[in-house]
Order: sequence, then C-alpha cells, then structure tokens
Amino acid sequence: MKAAVIHQFGPPDVFRYEDAKEPQPGSGEVVVRVGACGINRYDLYLRMGAVSTDISFPHILGADVAGSIVALGPEVGGWQEGDRVIVAPGYPIDPGDWDIRPENMAPSLEVTGTHSWGGNAEFIRVPARFIFRDETRLPVEQVAAMPLVLMTAVHAVATLGEVKEGTRVLVQAGASGSGNACIQVAKILGAKVAATVGSLPKVETARAAGADLVINYKEQNFAGAVLDWTDGAGVDVVIDNVGASVFEDNLKALRVGGIFVNFGLVGGMRATLNIRDLFFRQHQLRGSFMGGMEELRRGLAWLAEGKIKAPVDRTYPLKDVAEAHRYIESRAVRGKVVLIP
Ligand SMILES: NC(=O)c1ccc[n+]([C@@H]2O[C@H](COP(=O)([O-])OP(=O)(O)OC[C@H]3O[C@@H](n4cnc5c(N)ncnc54)[C@H](OP(=O)(O)O)[C@@H]3O)[C@@H](O)[C@H]2O)c1
Repeated sequence: MKAAVIHQFGPPDVFRYEDAKEPQPGSGEVVVRVGACGINRYDLYLRMGAVSTDISFPHILGADVAGSIVALGPEVGGWQEGDRVIVAPGYPIDPGDWDIRPENMAPSLEVTGTHSWGGNAEFIRVPARFIFRDETRLPVEQVAAMPLVLMTAVHAVATLGEVKEGTRVLVQAGASGSGNACIQVAKILGAKVAATVGSLPKVETARAAGADLVINYKEQNFAGAVLDWTDGAGVDVVIDNVGASVFEDNLKALRVGGIFVNFGLVGGMRATLNIRDLFFRQHQLRGSFMGGMEELRRGLAWLAEGKIKAPVDRTYPLKDVAEAHRYIESRAVRGKVVLIP
C-alpha cells in the first residue's frame, strides 16, 4: 500500500511517500480502507519525537480515520466488508484493559497511530471493538476531521467542565481544531462562550463555531475582557489547550470556585501556581486526556444530527503530508486539516 512513512523523528521533511506492507487482520480485527485521515497537533509532536522516543521505525502516523471495512479477521461479528466506519482515535492497547470504563482511565490508553501504524496510509488495521458505524452521511473528509477533537471536547467540556445551560465558559484557542470543537460542544449544552484567538481571520472561525464573545488576545488582555464580560466575577469554567503561556491569566479569568480544565500545551508545559490563590479562590484544577467511547459516541451523534459542523480548512493528498504539517505549524490553520490517501 502507499503510505506516508517516517523513518526517524524530525521536521516535516522526514515524511516519505512510499510502499509499506499492507496490514492483515488478526483475530478480532478489521482492516479499514482509509477514506480520509485528519491531522491533529499531536501528530506533529509525535513526528518530532516529543510524545515518545520508543517508536519503532518505519512508522505511520494518523489518529483520525474514516473509511470502509475491506477485510475482517476471525472472531469479528456484526460487521461486513464495505461498512462505512470511524476508527476510535484512541483506545487502550492492552486487551487486559478493555473492561476499564471509561476507557480513557486505562493505563494503556494511547492515541491511535502512536505505537501501532495509523491512518496516513491506504489501509489501517484496528480491533473491531474500537470502530463505530459512520451514520453521518457527510463527506468522508468532514467525518475524519472530527473524532479526536469531539471525544476530547465532550470529555473536557461536558464531563470534567460540568458545563450546562447558562454556564459561562472561556475556551482558549477558539480557532484550533480542538478549541473549535469545545466551543461547539459548550454551545450545544447551553453555555455562554467566550473564546480567544490570535488573528483577525480566526475571529470569524470562532464566531462560526458559536462563540458569543471572541477576544483577539494580541489586541487586548483576555483575562480583562472576560472579567468585563462577566461583570467582574469571572467565568464558571475555563477550557484550556494552550497551557503555560496563559495559565496565570486563565486563573484570573476564573470565578471563585470555578473549574479549570487543561488538555493541551501549545504554549508551554511549565507554569507557576500560586497555592494561596488556589485555596482562597477554591479553583478546581482538572487534567483531561482524550475520552471514553461513550463520550465519542455522543459527539458523533451530534455530528450526524448536524448539531456539530466539521470546520475543514484544507484537504491535502496524502503524498503532500509534509506541506500539510507545515501549514499547521504556521499557525495560520483555522479548524482542521485532512489528508486524502
Ligand atoms: N489531551 C487531549 O486529549 C488532547 C486532545 C486534542 C488536543 N490536545 C492538545 O491541544 C493542543 C491544541 O491541539 P490542536 O490539534 O487543537 O491544535 P491546532 O489546531 O494546531 O491549533 C493550535 C492553536 O493554538 C494557538 N496557540 C497559542 N499559543 C501557541 C503557541 N505558542 N504555539 C502554537 N500555537 C499556539 C494557535 O492559535 P492562535 O493563533 O489563535 O493563537 C494555534 O493555531 C495541543 O497541545 C494538543 O496536543 C490534547
């Protein structure tokens, strides 16, 4: 099969579009023909060796796959060749963890394409228990754009953020793939949403996702803008995928007793926490990694119902994966970038 293969960690130039061994399904597994594969910033970190250094080469990245089944291994029931499916963007890789619920509490939880080959290829092999029927009727590139960010958003916003009707939420990086999904999920739940962006074109992206207030943090301090928006009280919930560079201001923008959920670190991973403020202001700090299969199912149902829109900024042929990664690195991307094998 043709695949975008890496033989070492490094910049986007490390991709080689070449032949790779076609996967065969083992017991309980299916092989999916990849219709499209979304890119996440995680793929950039993985490519650079920043996620794990014990990746064996050659390796194929790619967590977000939509496509159709082409082969079924023994012990697979309920599926047929040709079924349109969505691959879970992360699942416990140790079968000994498969009974743990929610799945993201399993010690062996891993983003798809981390140690096993991912979807930057014509085919991917996955355990049948971690595929979902694609009932969206959407173009395949729209479907492939969403599973990872949807699973993340439902877990971070609905479960950990406890967002409901009337909750006031601040979402960082509102035009990022994951931030955009968080705005949409918060709006479905009935929240009032403020979002940050770093450029004028991204204001429109965050607005289109449903943000009630969009703050260009290059033009004004976002914590001040959020305090004005909430009459000085601060928001009930901060959903953060940026990390260190905005940590202190995030907590300034959070009300007494508010919930802070972090799931990302584009702006750095080491921050300083003022313990005195933590207990006086009674902030709840929560870390969020991926989500469970039920959370993904909930997000995919919203996608199928048209309540969630896939913000596909660009698609690239798989052979141009390096260019696609450079585009994401440039920070110009608004929403999602998707590869087509
Ligand atoms: N834990 C999980 O389950 C999970 C799931 C999904 C994503 N994530 C994490 O969330 C973060 C965002 O991922 P994504 O795929 O949504 O990213 P993305 O689509 O590439 O967007 C990242 C955006 O972050 C903003 N940003 C702020 N400071 C930045 C900096 N110093 N360098 C680069 N960008 C910066 C930029 O937007 P502006 O121009 O508007 O500032 C940029 O476009 C990553 O750390 C990722 O690993 C974690």
